[in-house]
Amino acid sequence: MRVLGLETTCDETAAAVVGLSDDGRGAILSNEVLSQIAEHAAYGGVVPEIAARAHVEALDHLIERALAQAGLRLEEVDGIAAAAGPGLIGGVIVGLTTAKALALVTRKPLLAVNHLEGHALTARLTDGIGFPFLLLLVSGGHTQLLAVKGVGDYVRLGTTVDDAIGEAFDKVAKLLGLPYPGGPEVEKAAAKGDPERFALPRPMLGRPEPNFSLSGLKTALRIEAERIVPLTETHVADLCASFQAAVTDVVVDRTRAALRVFRAAAGHPTALVIAGGVAANQTLRRALQRLAGEAGLRLLAPPLELCGDNGAIVAWAGLERLRLGLIDDMTAPARARWPLDAARDEAGAKA
Ligand code: KG4
Ligand code: ZN
Repeated sequence: MRVLGLETTCDETAAAVVGLSDDGRGAILSNEVLSQIAEHAAYGGVVPEIAARAHVEALDHLIERALAQAGLRLEEVDGIAAAAGPGLIGGVIVGLTTAKALALVTRKPLLAVNHLEGHALTARLTDGIGFPFLLLLVSGGHTQLLAVKGVGDYVRLGTTVDDAIGEAFDKVAKLLGLPYPGGPEVEKAAAKGDPERFALPRPMLGRPEPNFSLSGLKTALRIEAERIVPLTETHVADLCASFQAAVTDVVVDRTRAALRVFRAAAGHPTALVIAGGVAANQTLRRALQRLAGEAGLRLLAPPLELCGDNGAIVAWAGLERLRLGLIDDMTAPARARWPLDAARDEAGAKA
C-alpha cells in the first residue's frame, strides 16, 4: 500500500510518498518539502495570499519529484491524500483541489486528512506504537494535550487559553529583533544565555486541568526587555534562555497533569508522544524525557525533519485511513478550522 500526500496548509509546500512496511511501520519513499520562509521573512510572518500563490506555483513540480524519487508513476499509488485543514484556507484549497483532480483522473481513493492528525500519527509511522497514547501537540497554531485512542479518535485533555507555544516563541523572537520563524532562533540564542537571569512567571503551574496560558509570560518578558533597552546580545540570550526555561517548566507540569487525567480515564498510555514544529526544541525534549522516565513511559519524538510540516505525515495519516476504509469523496471541504476531537466536541469547532 502506497499513498501520495500533499501538504499546503501553511508556508511549506510538500509532497511525499509513504508505504507500509511488513512490521506495520511506515516507509518513507520520498519527502519533498519546499519552504517559503524567504518569501515571508520580510513581513515577519506568513502572508496568506503570498503563501497560496506560492503553493500553486510549486506543488506540481514537487509531486513529480516525489513520485520520481519513490520510483513510481502516479497510477501506481493506492491513494491520494491532502491536508484538508486546519490552516490558511487559500493554501488548503490548493492542496485539496489538486488531490481531488489527481484522484479523479486516476480513479484512486481520496483521503482528506486533518493536518493535526498527520502530526498526531507520526509516532506510528516512525515507531509503530499502538493506541492509546498521550500526545503533546505543539506547533505555531496549536497547543494541545490529547488522548489518542485510535485513528480519528481523539479526546482533548487540555489546550491553551490564549497563544500557542510556537506562536509565543515567534512573538518573543520578533520582540527581541530575531528573524522569523522565531522558534529555532530563540533556541539558538538561549543556548548562550543564563536561564535564571530573569525570573519569569510559570502560568497555570499546579492546576489540575492540563491547560496552558502563554500570554502573561510573553508580556512579562516584554516588560523585562523594555526595562533594559538597549538590549545587548547577552541580554537577548539571557531573555531567550529564561523564556525557554519558563515554557519548559510549564509544558512539563501541564503534561504531568494530563498524564494523571489520562490514567484516571484510560489506563496506562503506550507512550508519551510529542509532535508539531515546537517538538524540535531540544531543551523541551530533554525535560520531557526526564518526565517520561519518572513516569515509566517511553518518550517518542519525531526526527527533526518530521517535526515541521511535510508531506510524509499527511501521506501516512492518509494510509492509516485508507487501511480502515475511511475514504472521502469529492465533496470533502477545505477547512480553516478543524479540531481533532470535532466528533466529540462540536463546541470546539467554533472556539
Ligand atoms: O508544525 P509547524 O511546522 O507548523 C504549524 O503547523 O504551525 O510548527 C511551526 C512552529 C513555529 O511557531 C516555530 O517557531 C516553532 O514551530 N518551532 C520551534 C522550534 N522549531 C520550530 N519552537 C521552539 N523551538 C524550536 N526549535
Ligand atoms: Zn504543523
